[in-house]
Amino acid sequence: MSLPFSFLRLEAQKTPPLFFLSLLVILFFLVSPEVGAQGQSFKDDMAERTRACTACHGEQGRAGPDGYYPRLAGKPAGYLFNQLKNFQEGRRHYKLMTRLVDPLSDAYLQEMANYFAKLNLPYAPAMQPKERVSDRILQHGKKLALEGDSSRGVPACNTCHGTQLTGIQAHVPGLLGLPLDYLNAQLGAWQTSQRKARTPDCMREIVKQLESEDLVAVATWLSTQNMPLNSSPALQISEPLKAPWRCGSAPELSKGQP
Ligand code: HEC
Ligand code: HEC
Repeated sequence: MSLPFSFLRLEAQKTPPLFFLSLLVILFFLVSPEVGAQGQSFKDDMAERTRACTACHGEQGRAGPDGYYPRLAGKPAGYLFNQLKNFQEGRRHYKLMTRLVDPLSDAYLQEMANYFAKLNLPYAPAMQPKERVSDRILQHGKKLALEGDSSRGVPACNTCHGTQLTGIQAHVPGLLGLPLDYLNAQLGAWQTSQRKARTPDCMREIVKQLESEDLVAVATWLSTQNMPLNSSPALQISEPLKAPWRCGSAPELSKGQP
């Protein structure tokens, strides 16, 4: 069974034509800052040039209001850059965004990734579990996140996502401060191969070992956890990943191991 994410398509259908037009105008400024610089009030800095992005991703990349447009601020730069390449190269799909990043050079993508990674903004308190979410589900999710499931060979999420689940430099995102809908959509996308990471794609292997119920449980638990005081990604993995686990998008996790 796969998680539903047909709302992605709904989203596209609902978008009025005027939106596409304004996207084009913004794109024009995004790729040719010198055009804007001749204007009176155009300030050529990254905050200004990423207006096209923050239209969806929220002010300063804090996340959109509806729980679907993900936060960019404070995520590891290497992770953000990898995602921009994933959209360009078809490992992730979201047409409206892909159109924007398609024409941009690697150097420019890196510059945007660095800009958003450096923004250190507060996080909203975590969502409270809905009353109908049973304690059993939350406990199951917590166990997967912090201990994994050795009977199925699944490592704990915090093996790779940092002991505090705030991510690891430079390519692993944190799992806290993300809305439940976004977490469900991403795990569902890995299940159906809509989302891929560079091979070997460790997230694909993990998701393959788990049932939809497990994924919903772990996403639910994660979405109800507050960010610790220090929300920065860890500087490195506490113990290098053991074979056979390998993540093509984050080679530093297994550095120095056969
Ligand atoms: C039309 C709305 C829209 C615009 C404009 C847009 N994005 Fe996105 N972006 C999204 C959505 C929706 C997702 C999540 C898609 C998915 O589920 O995979 C996303 C995902 C991302 C991700 C991956 C985040 C993560 O945590 O994995 C990055 C990085 C990103 N966008 C950067 C940008 C940048 C940089 C720009 C400007 C050049 C931009 N986006 C413009 C809607 C948009
Ligand atoms: C073996 C290492 C490893 C383990 C264990 C692992 N992950 Fe990941 N995860 C990664 C890497 C690497 C990425 C970044 C992939 C990419 O570049 O797209 C990632 C990305 C993700 C994302 C995308 C986040 C975003 O902002 O879009 C989610 C969600 C996720 N993992 C959830 C989990 C959950 C839940 C678990 C535990 C059940 C888990 N991961 C265990 C390595 C791991």
